[in-house]
Amino acid sequence: MEFSTIKGFRDILPKEVGNWHYLETTARTIFKLFGFKEIRPPLLERTELFSRSIGQDTDIVSKEMYTLTDSKGRGMTLRPEATASVVRAYIQNRLYQDDPVQKLFTIGPMFRHERPQKGRFRQFHQINAELFGDGGPRSDADLIHMAMHLLTSVGLVGPVLNLNSLGCEKCRDGFRKELKSYLAQRISAFCGDCQKRAETNPLRVFDCKVDTCKEQIMDAPSILDYICEDCREHFSSLQGYLKDLGIPFSINHRLVRGLDYYTRTCFEIQSDQLGAQNAVIGGGRYDGLVKELGGPDHPAIGFAIGVERLLTLLEGIVDHQTGGPDLFIAGIGSRAEEKVFHWTNILRRSGICVEMEYGSKGLKAQMKKADRVGAKKVLIVGDDELASGKGIIRDMGAKIQTDVDLDKLEEEIKRLL
Ligand code: HAM
Repeated sequence: MEFSTIKGFRDILPKEVGNWHYLETTARTIFKLFGFKEIRPPLLERTELFSRSIGQDTDIVSKEMYTLTDSKGRGMTLRPEATASVVRAYIQNRLYQDDPVQKLFTIGPMFRHERPQKGRFRQFHQINAELFGDGGPRSDADLIHMAMHLLTSVGLVGPVLNLNSLGCEKCRDGFRKELKSYLAQRISAFCGDCQKRAETNPLRVFDCKVDTCKEQIMDAPSILDYICEDCREHFSSLQGYLKDLGIPFSINHRLVRGLDYYTRTCFEIQSDQLGAQNAVIGGGRYDGLVKELGGPDHPAIGFAIGVERLLTLLEGIVDHQTGGPDLFIAGIGSRAEEKVFHWTNILRRSGICVEMEYGSKGLKAQMKKADRVGAKKVLIVGDDELASGKGIIRDMGAKIQTDVDLDKLEEEIKRLL
């Protein structure tokens, strides 16, 4: 039997890893600038954590989770997103004790049993940032600014920020009633899923990808006409801060998110180069979630970057290959090979990246390998060089050869590199 990856799962190959490191390193640098600290929650959590936070009626919880049962019959789920886990960790570890304002980030894989297509995988990776303990519009602007700064810092051209306010618990109820009655009047024109959503979770209808549903929803009431004075004030201050920071945005009153915990600000950063799955970042405020999961009544806001999608957008813009070794040592003859093995490992201990051939090969084959692995220089040592104490160093770029003193190899190599 030949094994291969499970559908929707993929290997990240060595030739791609340079770009992953580049993205992760840039994210870490920017998170530090904005005062965010790393947290690494586990990948497996109690199923209820996700059903309570993301919402029972969402696609994620109702049909996309990888759930298993432990020996005591309890449900455990591979995380479909990181926010719920970070909230759990904030509460469980009382991270708010010294200061309710905590800024946390986490990077890693998520799992959703979705239909795989371009930009959509069953195991994918997110870079998440979550800001706890401040409910004002400055923290929204701060976080959105960080997301945009990260995207432009890695070289993304033309990201589009779409913004909406989903109101708070109070004002959303009024809107939900209005929307329900709008949907009820034309219910037969909607797809089967939306007909159910119209009852259980009407805002989700805005997110349906079926063309007829998209058409039917065009004239639906706008949530922005229903939000309360406080929510309106919050949303308008946020827009002021974004303008002040020079961040362009579009207001999209039909923007809802696939997770139920959002309140007030929600946003997506999109790129038209991605096709149907055009969101590279999704996020928003979730002021009720910490309390809902048993913690203090602390507001929060966050976002997640889809790493695979961002890397697709950066194809042709960034190319960070893992570099070749500083030095390749080619040994000819058994005595030289023993020495090569020793020197290679000793030089590595002093911080020089060195490669060699494990088996016995002729000089031509070893030079070919040095070229293939991208070695900057090659040290050639055979019986004659061992006898004279002088090895030959070849610069692979300049194609120049010089002698080095084999007794002072480390010094000589460091001088030449
Ligand atoms: P989300 O919109 O479900 O939000 O996911 C965020 C991003 O993850 C998406 O915009 C997309 O780039 C990427 N993504 C989602 N599903 C897939 C998939 N199947 N394959 C590839 N990429 C995918 C959340 O997960 C929220 N937890 C974001 C958040 C953090 N809100 C507040 N804090």
